[in-house]
Amino acid sequence: MKMEQPEHCGEEVMPGSEASRLHVAVIMDGNGRWAKNRNWPRIVGHRKGAERCRELVAACPDLGIRYLTVYAFSTENWSRTTEEVLGLMSLFGRYIKREAARIKKEGVRMRFIGDRTPLDPKLRALFDWIEAETAENDRVHLTVAINYGGRDEIRRAAQSVARAVAAGELAADAVTNATITAHMDTAGLPDPDLVVRTSGESRVSNFLLWQAAYAEYVFTPVLWPDFTPEIMKTILDAYGQRERRFGGVLT
Ligand code: IPE
Ligand code: IPE
Ligand code: MG
Repeated sequence: MKMEQPEHCGEEVMPGSEASRLHVAVIMDGNGRWAKNRNWPRIVGHRKGAERCRELVAACPDLGIRYLTVYAFSTENWSRTTEEVLGLMSLFGRYIKREAARIKKEGVRMRFIGDRTPLDPKLRALFDWIEAETAENDRVHLTVAINYGGRDEIRRAAQSVARAVAAGELAADAVTNATITAHMDTAGLPDPDLVVRTSGESRVSNFLLWQAAYAEYVFTPVLWPDFTPEIMKTILDAYGQRERRFGGVLT
């Protein structure tokens, strides 16, 4: 019997279908330890991490990565010191302003996932602005997870579905996996094929819980501020050797 692959988050086929649809998601971890190893403040590690992110985005076309989703701030990261949280928030704003021209030129479509409501209105306005400015781009899809938690995203999607049912727009029995997918922040994006986590931690930390159901995982000891496109290339070469079965059997 032919095995069916699980449905993917985005059913839409993007233009330029001959191009790769590879989706790599990255848990950019280890900035604090990188700085600590040098007796520098943690924010210096975050700044270096932002540079590494920029380099990776620029390298995506050569690496064959069409979709890159990066975890920048989790719903749990608010528990850090006010200094670190504010430092990160201002880094996100500066990154958008500084990178806007380059991102547009390189054909990058930028999106944000996560709950924006508690963020500073100025930062939210920057998110809206860069999303609109790059909405027509299709060469690389960069999605940045800020105030993102997989459980929180599922909770918000469930609320949104419940509201549609309560409004009589949808029958409860008609709710499918595709309905949930369409209510997630990632609606329109394919599921990640590969999730990479740096810094030697082998956990998911609430990242893309719904979407990464069949993703491959790679855990590397490299700290994020030391991560280069060459390291990603090595990981992708190894990923190419893996065989994804989606619950089926070898044919
Ligand atoms: C990842 O690096 C970046 C964020 C979570 C914002 P960390 O800040 O978690 O670095 P470590 O894990 O403390 O080294
Ligand atoms: C995950 O890293 C979140 C981001 C990379 C943004 P954390 O450092 O916050 O995760 P834990 O605390 O090690 O699980
Ligand atoms: Mg960490």
